[in-house]
Amino acid sequence: MTSVATAISLISRAEAEASSEARALGGAGASTCGADLAKGPWEFDAAEALRGLPAYGPGASVADAAPRSTPRQGQLPQEYREASEDELRARITAAKEALGERVVVLGHFYQRDEVVEHADFVGDSFQLANAALTRPDAEAIVFCGVHFMAETADILSRQDQAVILPNLAAGCSMADMADIDSVEQAWAQLEAVLGTEPDADGRVPVIPVTYMNSSAALKGFCGEHGGIVCTSSNAATVLEWAFERAQRVLFFPDQHLGRNTAKAMGVPLQQMPMWSPRKPLGGNDAATLLESRVILWHGFCSVHKRFTVAQIEQARAEYPGVRVIVHPECPMEVVDAADEYGSTDYIRKAIAGATEPTVFAIGTEVNLVNRLAAEYPQHTVFCLDPVICPCSTMYRIHPGYLAWVLEGLVEGEVRNRIEVPADVAATARVALERMLAARP
Ligand code: 13P
Ligand code: SF4
Repeated sequence: MTSVATAISLISRAEAEASSEARALGGAGASTCGADLAKGPWEFDAAEALRGLPAYGPGASVADAAPRSTPRQGQLPQEYREASEDELRARITAAKEALGERVVVLGHFYQRDEVVEHADFVGDSFQLANAALTRPDAEAIVFCGVHFMAETADILSRQDQAVILPNLAAGCSMADMADIDSVEQAWAQLEAVLGTEPDADGRVPVIPVTYMNSSAALKGFCGEHGGIVCTSSNAATVLEWAFERAQRVLFFPDQHLGRNTAKAMGVPLQQMPMWSPRKPLGGNDAATLLESRVILWHGFCSVHKRFTVAQIEQARAEYPGVRVIVHPECPMEVVDAADEYGSTDYIRKAIAGATEPTVFAIGTEVNLVNRLAAEYPQHTVFCLDPVICPCSTMYRIHPGYLAWVLEGLVEGEVRNRIEVPADVAATARVALERMLAARP
């Protein structure tokens, strides 16, 4: 599988350069998190169809339970499964040429290189949602990312533009950890404990804040309940916005982004209880909820959960002076031990902006880290986690699926359209627009 081969060949410049045996042990062959990474994603799509159960496939989130509602992808036609990498590249290029301005292809930073090479725009989830707006004449937006990103593009794009997700099973295990039913149940319990009346300053008891990595239904819930969306780059601004209007925040689905952001703003940890969706009052007592400032949903990203303080210590031991930058989806102790933390775009800009040759140890998804290592050879850039473990849901987008949807468009068929129901889109747009208007 070329994507894995590419990842392994780049397995981190650090490994090539590091003298330590420990890091060398992470070399090609011994260093992937599962032999299944050598298989095509369609092998998992077919197995799921047979078992009738969704799964996330190989990669960092393989151990997470996929809810039954997770979309499934039908079997990819044989010709695409069997095509060589070169053939797929040629077919994608030809289809894009035939479609011209009628299509725009968006690629998230975490996509494999063989997909990114065909993207008209490469960026983080928010940049890509905006990129879609810059091409209002395109009939189709092919989103090489995950489901919530395609939904956001559909909400923000013109109604007659078709947003296409090449593999419907490309979800996000973190986004799936908060579903609308559990959030509505949590909200009803919170209203029962906290009431609904504003305080003397006009601040309501609680406002919902959802990370961009969530379903359109949750963004709609926020829109309806005076809440807002945030991304990893504007989470502090959004929390400030929320604290101006509410005594506390219910933050979902990522506990780590919520905790790291609120802690940096001075909110004490004891005022950030966790909400476990299957427990009464989320596993808290009423007094704790009344004292709280940020109620953190019990969600996390399995990719970013892999990063540890021990990895940071090892990087510092091997490379005195190393700059350690991690994503705010990492656990708090990892963020605390790093030199800096920020969104995928922050990480990219930090490396691009370094004027002197620098060693960077990065705590985020490996496809992005390896691409940055290749793009900036004047620096040494490596992934903190020595084991290659991509985001299993991003991995679902393979050039075979991209060729299949693009050739469908050439033939006049829209495959894998993502359409958010109009009522959900309307309220989700309110929450997204509040985010766009929020200023530090
Ligand atoms: P960005 O919003 O930075 O694109 O991150 C999305 C994501 O899934 C991070 O894990
Ligand atoms: Fe979701 Fe984590 Fe993958 Fe991002 S890296 S898409 S949060 S599972």
